[in-house]
Amino acid sequence: MSATVIDGKKIAAEIRAEAKIEAAELIANGTQPCLVVVLVGEDPASKAYVGSKVKACEETGIKSLKITRPSDTSEEALISEIDRLNADGSVHGILVQLPLPKHINEDRITERIDPAKDVDGFHPVNVGKLSIGMDCLTPCTPTGIPEMIVRSGIEISGKHAVVIGRSNIVGKPMMSLLVQKGEKANCTITCCHSGTKDLAHHTKQADILIAAIGVPEFVKADMVKPGATVIDVGINRVDDASVAKGYKLVGDVDYANVEPIAGAITPVPGGVGPMTVAMLMKNTVKAARMLS
Ligand code: GUN
Repeated sequence: MSATVIDGKKIAAEIRAEAKIEAAELIANGTQPCLVVVLVGEDPASKAYVGSKVKACEETGIKSLKITRPSDTSEEALISEIDRLNADGSVHGILVQLPLPKHINEDRITERIDPAKDVDGFHPVNVGKLSIGMDCLTPCTPTGIPEMIVRSGIEISGKHAVVIGRSNIVGKPMMSLLVQKGEKANCTITCCHSGTKDLAHHTKQADILIAAIGVPEFVKADMVKPGATVIDVGINRVDDASVAKGYKLVGDVDYANVEPIAGAITPVPGGVGPMTVAMLMKNTVKAARMLS
């Protein structure tokens, strides 16, 4: 038996179409949602992500502005930029692409963004609100995951979700989201990480297994319960001399061997990745609605 392949591209397109309608309603009421994306430095992957975010804005009816700064930009200069954007009433969302160059303190930058414009949901105010179940802006990648599961007709409530990885961008907010009450949550949660002993013992208990480790093909078939829903958050570049660009993208899951035993699985690319951008469109519209 083979798994249902969860089509992230198709579900993301549905969500973007919803965001487009919501943006049009705001425009009709005199507010065009506006997202500013700030890119510091020349990292090729970050440039590509920022490009796809700006393109998605254009297609959704969201105004977007890309601010690019050289990699030797000072922390103070970046702080001044954020202060200017915080004060600008026509800007509803501010996203500073991570990672930042080493000389810039990411925590200080994250904390400087007005929580009402924090479309990444990384500000401590939003992290705290999420943890106590208050309405707030929530991180795009983990917010998209229950959406794609539920929209594939798979129930989440009451399931045991095991998250591998404890990053602030994915693992921790994923736990906060899934533990809340609600149709897209209400899970029993286990979080595994580099300090976990006997990882496979835990992952094999998962009805929903979410891999966000950043290690290519880390999750093997013998770590997965037959019939489980497997969500692969990883996007890893691995060398591949057989293709012109010299690399291919693989996830954190050994797809070829896990797919035959899983109940449902997300591919890489075309799974979680497109959902992140779609949820950013939703968050930008939400921020604009709250601020207008
Ligand atoms: N770098 C990798 N993922 C993200 C994200 O979701 N937001 C930002 N700002 N930077 C990232």
